[in-house]
Amino acid sequence: MKIVGICASPRKNGNTDTLLEKVLAGVKDQGAETEKIFLSDLNILPVSENEYESVTKEGFSVVQDDMNMVLRKIEECDALVMASPIFFGSISAQAKIMIDRFQCVWLAKNTLKKEMFQKERKGVFVSVEATNREDFFQNAKSIVRHFFATINVKYAGELFCPGVDTKGKVLEKPEVLEKAYELGAMLAGANPSASSLGDVPI
Ligand SMILES: Cc1cc2nc3c(=O)[nH]c(=O)nc-3n(C[C@H](O)[C@H](O)[C@H](O)COP(=O)(O)O)c2cc1C
Repeated sequence: MKIVGICASPRKNGNTDTLLEKVLAGVKDQGAETEKIFLSDLNILPVSENEYESVTKEGFSVVQDDMNMVLRKIEECDALVMASPIFFGSISAQAKIMIDRFQCVWLAKNTLKKEMFQKERKGVFVSVEATNREDFFQNAKSIVRHFFATINVKYAGELFCPGVDTKGKVLEKPEVLEKAYELGAMLAGANPSASSLGDVPI
């Protein structure tokens, strides 16, 4: 089993990255393989006019940047962790640019009659913000749910951490780190314990 984590914050070892690492630690301790994709390290262009109508015959993007590598990794994995900070009330630009590039999945379906993501998988969403605005998390969540639905990923859990701004602030919240670890363990197949996960549905 392989679980891919996508970090959509530009800040390495920031709050999103730290929580994602904890989720992946929970995954690894269940014996599953993990891979982290740090979007800011990649060259992923915003969706272009070409991509409104053209798709490769395999159903991938016609634009030759790092996006097709990301598409393949997501297609091959068994579960997904999407992690993004809240920026201006929504997911980060890095996250949205990647998600928009999944337009080729729609095109493949409609023009090639090819279903790209046939394997049903689970995914979870992790997010952080400086303030305490639940509506921002819900806004981000609706986009992630739409993305997951497009790639046949069942939205199976979430972890939202408000009130963290400076780098590493989330390390001062051991209860949140523990929830992140448990979210990863459950995504990798552990039975939910009666412990600290609270209302995270999976
Ligand atoms: C461009 C930008 C926009 C932001 N917008 C918001 C916002 O709308 N609401 C909020 O609560 N925090 C906002 N923040 C604060 C971040 O969500 C917060 O610093 C978070 O901990 C960053 O996570 P990271 O360390 O993973 O990058 C913003 C930060 C940046 C850099």
